Amino acid sequence: MIFKKVNKLNGELNIPGDKSVSHRSIMLGSLAEGITEVHGFLNGADCISSMNCFRQMGVDIRYDGNIVTIYGNGLTGLKAPAATLDVGNSGTTTRLMSGILAAQPFESRIIGDASICKRPMKRIMTPLRMMGADITSELGNDCAPLIIKGTTLKGIHYDSPVASAQVKSCILLAGLYADGETSVTEPYVSRNHTELMFESFGVPVSVSGTTVTINAAQKLIGQKIMVPGDISSAAYFIVAGLITPNSCITIKNVGINPTRDGIIEVVKKMGGNISYSNVSNDVGEPTADITVRTSSLKGCTIEGEVIPKLIDEIPVIAVLACFAEGTTVIKDAAELKVKESNRIDVMVNNLSAMGADITATEDGMIINGGRELHGTVIDSMMDHRIAMSFAIAGLNADGETKIEGSEVVNISYPTFYDDLKAMMN
Ligand code: S3P
Repeated sequence: MIFKKVNKLNGELNIPGDKSVSHRSIMLGSLAEGITEVHGFLNGADCISSMNCFRQMGVDIRYDGNIVTIYGNGLTGLKAPAATLDVGNSGTTTRLMSGILAAQPFESRIIGDASICKRPMKRIMTPLRMMGADITSELGNDCAPLIIKGTTLKGIHYDSPVASAQVKSCILLAGLYADGETSVTEPYVSRNHTELMFESFGVPVSVSGTTVTINAAQKLIGQKIMVPGDISSAAYFIVAGLITPNSCITIKNVGINPTRDGIIEVVKKMGGNISYSNVSNDVGEPTADITVRTSSLKGCTIEGEVIPKLIDEIPVIAVLACFAEGTTVIKDAAELKVKESNRIDVMVNNLSAMGADITATEDGMIINGGRELHGTVIDSMMDHRIAMSFAIAGLNADGETKIEGSEVVNISYPTFYDDLKAMMN
């Protein structure tokens, strides 16, 4: 796909559903008693991977393209899958589902694409083994394929070395089945969608600082879930509206959970013109309409506890920083190296190729903004967030920006290019 400079972006859009919340709705709905109805489910390849895995374990999940209806099997009702569970590109499916599989009375095998088979799974294998789980990496490299022989589990306290909602959620899902209390402490608070959804399905959760504690659950009760728009997807339009001349974009019904809103904090710190309207707390997760306008921006330092709140937005924040005056320093973000691609290297190499002044560091990057970008050929590395970030850069660069593997946006935002095009009219 090819992008050229535009002189304005204007309009209003609805962002597709939150990826993290959509995955969790499938998993908890499958383990619940009764019917779970999911509105605003993200029809992206990752969430469909979760859906198909639970279907393979005997859960009746119907999707009419609008509403997902899950006829839950109850906590102990999953069936042994007849074949290997294929998670595709989805780290969330792999790690969260492993916590559930560790406690089932059957054996399962998890496989995924080339990227998944390189991503670290030791981070879940270690705590699950402490709980008594039998989980192994087939190739002995601490990556997928994973073999999980379900067994009885015991509750643990786990001090996680990383602030990772996937690790935390894996342990909490195993904790639904474990004897006694299960708790996780993180260095910083990561997204709390699992905790919020546990509460709505009737599982009490106690939170103190960065520690989350649950007890074995008796049952989960099917729910109606309203999935908010994904702030990680909204991020591309937030940045586009800020850096493109003569622009004003309103993004409707975006999830603004405080564990996810780091990009808003950073945009404000950089002097961006951003505002909320129609703020609502009615449906489990807070939402708002977000309006952004073309802004003059200044660089800033992004580090510490805000990092988990914007981890998936860092690629597009790097693009934003190229259009800000002065230096932006991103630190404490070594996790970027183990995402769908090594997002430090891929952003630094490609933005450098477009003429940006950007340097990789051990745990982030340093960007001196203000240099004109020019188009080039960008390899998405089959990472959805890389493809979308460079689409936004390409709309603000001289010449042509050609993105290879641009179709990878289907992982989290299948209608991304159509939505972007609609802003150009
Ligand atoms: C996610 C957690 C984050 C995030 C990922 C989704 C989740 O990963 O990057 O896109 O749904 O729990 P980590 O837990 O590895 O930080």
